[in-house]
Amino acid sequence: MDAALIRNLDANYVLGTYRRQAPLFVRGEGVWMFDSDGNRYLDLLAGIAVDQLGHAHPAMIETIERQARTLLHTSNILLTAPQAQLAGKLHEVMGCDRSFFANCGATAIEAALKIAKKRGQPDRTEIVCLERSFHGRTLGALSATMQPKYQDQFRPLVPGFIKVPANDEAALDAAVSERTAAVIVEPIQGEGGLTVITETFLRAVRAKTQDVGALMIVDEVQTGVGRTGHWLAIQRFGIQPDIVALAKGLGSGVPIGACLTYGDASHVLEPGDHGSTYGGNPFVCSVALTVLKTIEREGLMENARERGRQLADGLRRIGGPIVEVRGEGLMRGAVLDRPIARDLVRWGMGKGIILNATDDNTLRFVPPLIIEAKHIDLALDLIDTGLRELAQAA
Ligand SMILES: Cc1ncc(COP(=O)(O)O)c(C=O)c1O
Repeated sequence: MDAALIRNLDANYVLGTYRRQAPLFVRGEGVWMFDSDGNRYLDLLAGIAVDQLGHAHPAMIETIERQARTLLHTSNILLTAPQAQLAGKLHEVMGCDRSFFANCGATAIEAALKIAKKRGQPDRTEIVCLERSFHGRTLGALSATMQPKYQDQFRPLVPGFIKVPANDEAALDAAVSERTAAVIVEPIQGEGGLTVITETFLRAVRAKTQDVGALMIVDEVQTGVGRTGHWLAIQRFGIQPDIVALAKGLGSGVPIGACLTYGDASHVLEPGDHGSTYGGNPFVCSVALTVLKTIEREGLMENARERGRQLADGLRRIGGPIVEVRGEGLMRGAVLDRPIARDLVRWGMGKGIILNATDDNTLRFVPPLIIEAKHIDLALDLIDTGLRELAQAA
């Protein structure tokens, strides 16, 4: 492959919305990725918490090949089996009553917001969101994304979105009222620096929304589908929300989003109220069904819990510039006492490990759920070396 040609095409013809890392990635296998020069990288990013089954998993290959030969797309006007089967499986493992299928996280959130808005007509005009939240880039999801760096250049946004500090029950109490259509919360804020929302705060959201007759929307786009060692992060507290948004890991690399509804929220939208050309087509649904079955069959949630503990313990042992380790399962963050997180990501790229930083001080680890103990050991060794080198240089 002519890497220079590809870099030129990318630089000249792709809209410049991303700052890309230097290597040209051509292939993946398990937890490894390979560049055009044949270099191997341990993938601790998994496409930003997407590739639950790693790269080129045999079950994915089998399903993708089979479904390509069978039926890819038909439109939602026609009944096909995979969507219904996936909805049934989501009901079984995540306890939801119904599912709407979207194409990504943002469009799953849009569906959730539309349910809250329609149900709230005409008086419930407000959606309460948390500071440092991230719910996506479409205008509705962006309006719920309480970070100036994403919002400020796109004002005016959709009206009615109100911000409260995360884990501040008094502020929540003051903000939620009879005007509230919904409160939306990520159990662990992914883009917001791996901030863990406490069980008490999540319970307060549930209680307060129930008190005033509003909906509780849980954004599990990043935390869901086994990532924290549970199908849903919220399930570890036994809290039942009204709506859950999923995407990322549900397709393990194939684009799909889902808006899961519980109880009354399942009966708000009627034919014609919402839709999507591609959402839930036979191709993506058959893949998502395989992802869920494979996570079950291979015990990947247990693995996420065990490998997550190993990673967190190891990061704590490294110490030094790491002053805090947070998160659950295989969604972990390490907070550094100096702004070298992005430097470590660049350093890692030269040493064969794909790392990620959510800001200058915070590292994020969201590897494939198939990762093994030896890979975590290797990652910890590299991170330790890299942090020592960079801390000395700083
Ligand atoms: C919690 C959360 N919600 C929503 C989104 C948006 O998902 P997408 O990029 O698939 O639209 C993301 C993406 O990072 C996310 O982490």
